[in-house]
Amino acid sequence: MAQKNAPDLMERIVSLCKRRGFVFQSSDIYGGFSSCYDYGPLGVELKRNVKDAWWRSMVVGRDDIVGLDSAIIQHPDVWKSSGHLAGFHDLMVDCKECKGRFRHDHLEDENVCPNCGAQGSFTEPRAFNLMFKTFAGPVEDTAHTVFLRPETAQGIFTNFLNVVNSSRVKPPFGIAQIGKSFRNEITPGNFVFRTREFEQMEMEFFIPPDEGDKWYDYWIQERFDWYVKFGVRPDKLRKRAHDDDELAHYSTGCTDVEYEFPFGWSELEGIAKRGCFDLTQHGEGSGKDLSFFDEATKTRYIPHVVEPAAGCDRAAMTFLVDAYEEEAIPNEKTGKDDIRTVLRFHPSIAPVTVAVFPLVKKEGMPDRAREISAALQDVGLRTFYDEKGAIGRRYRRQDEVGTPWCVTIDGDTLSDGTVTVRDRDTMQQERVSADEIAANLKQRVADWKRT
Ligand code: GAP
Repeated sequence: MAQKNAPDLMERIVSLCKRRGFVFQSSDIYGGFSSCYDYGPLGVELKRNVKDAWWRSMVVGRDDIVGLDSAIIQHPDVWKSSGHLAGFHDLMVDCKECKGRFRHDHLEDENVCPNCGAQGSFTEPRAFNLMFKTFAGPVEDTAHTVFLRPETAQGIFTNFLNVVNSSRVKPPFGIAQIGKSFRNEITPGNFVFRTREFEQMEMEFFIPPDEGDKWYDYWIQERFDWYVKFGVRPDKLRKRAHDDDELAHYSTGCTDVEYEFPFGWSELEGIAKRGCFDLTQHGEGSGKDLSFFDEATKTRYIPHVVEPAAGCDRAAMTFLVDAYEEEAIPNEKTGKDDIRTVLRFHPSIAPVTVAVFPLVKKEGMPDRAREISAALQDVGLRTFYDEKGAIGRRYRRQDEVGTPWCVTIDGDTLSDGTVTVRDRDTMQQERVSADEIAANLKQRVADWKRT
C-alpha cells in the first residue's frame, strides 16, 4: 500500500529526514535559518553517492569529458561578460499591506496577495539581481565588490583555454564540475528544492558549430536515462521542451528533465543549446582568443556548447521522494497491519549498503560481526554496525533509511560459518557462507532492480 501522493507526504519525508539524520534545518539550535539546510550523517552519504554517480557517468566512465574545480569567487568581469550583472534577475513585487515579497512569475493571480489576501496591493514589478555580493579584502567599496558564483558553468568557460592547452582535448569534448552555487532567491522553498545555497553538477560540452542538434538530443536522453538507471521510476520523469518565450536570448533550445514531486512537476535539470554565446562573450571581455583550430580540417571556429546542468540537492531529494514507500504488513500477533516505511534506494545511492548485526551481544557474536563488517568495508561496501535491540526492529530501522541488505551473525555462524542475509525489498532471508558474503553482496548490488 504505497501512499505516494498523500497530501502530507512531503511533511512525512521531511520529518523522516530530521529524525534519522538525513537533513536538518540549518542553525537549528538558534531557532533555524530559513531555507538553509545541513546534511546529517546519512544525508551526506546520500549526497556523496549522488555526486559520485554523476561524476562516474560524466567523467570517469568516458574518454571525452574532463573534470574541473574552479573558484566560487571570481574576477568581477566574469559576471559582466556572462551577462549575469546586467540580466540575472527575477521580477519581484511587494505587497503593500503585509510587506510580503513574491516572484512576479510565480503569482497565480496578479491582483490578490497569496499571503494576506489583499487585493490590488502589489507594487510595480522590480528587477532583483540574484547574485550575492560581498567584498574581497578589507575595503568595502564598489571597486572591491565581488560576487558568489550563481552557477558553476562560468568557471568552466573561463578555463576553456587552460584546459585545451593542458589536456590534449578537442571538440567534441566536455568539462564537468560539481560545486556550490549561490542565488539570493526571492521565494526559496519546498525543502531543499529551491534554496539560496546549493550544489550544482554541470557539464559544458564543446562541439563544432554544426553538431548542436545531434548533441542536444544525445544529452537529453543520456540525462533522462541517468535518473532511471539509479532507480527513479520512469513514469515519474518527463522531458519538457521550453517554449520560445522561456529561452535565454542566446539559446536555441532547452529541455528540462522534470520529476513529479508531491507539489507537482518540477525541474531537476536543464539541457541547453547555448550556441557560441559564452566563449564569444568571454573572448570579447578578456581580449583572449577562445577559438579552436581544428588541425584535421584546417578550420578555426568558436566551439558551440550543449550544457546539461543539474542540481545535486534536487537530485538527492528526488531519489529520496521516489524511494519513499509505506506498506501494510500483516502482523500475526495483533491481527492488524503494521505500516513499514521503506526507502527503496538503488544500492549505489543508499547511504548504507549493508547493516551488520550480531543477533545477541554475547557468545562471541559481536566480535565475529565486527570482523565481517571490516571485510565488507575492505571491498568498498558502506556498512553500519548495530548490536542493540530486537532483530526485527533493527531490520525496520534499516528499511526506513533504505539499507538494501542486513547481515546477521547468529549461533549457527559460529558453528557452520554461515550468516543470514536479509533483503530490504522482499524481506526474504537467506543463509550464505560468511566466506562468500562479500562476493555475494557485490553481486546483489550489480543485479539490483527496482521492484
Ligand atoms: N548553467 C545553467 C544553470 O545554472 P539553471 O537551470 O539556473 O541553469 C541548473 O540551474 C540546475 O541547478 C537546476 O535545474 C536545479 O537543479 C539547480 N538549481 C538552480 N537553482 C537552484 C536553487 N535555488 N536551489 C536548488 N537547486 C537549484
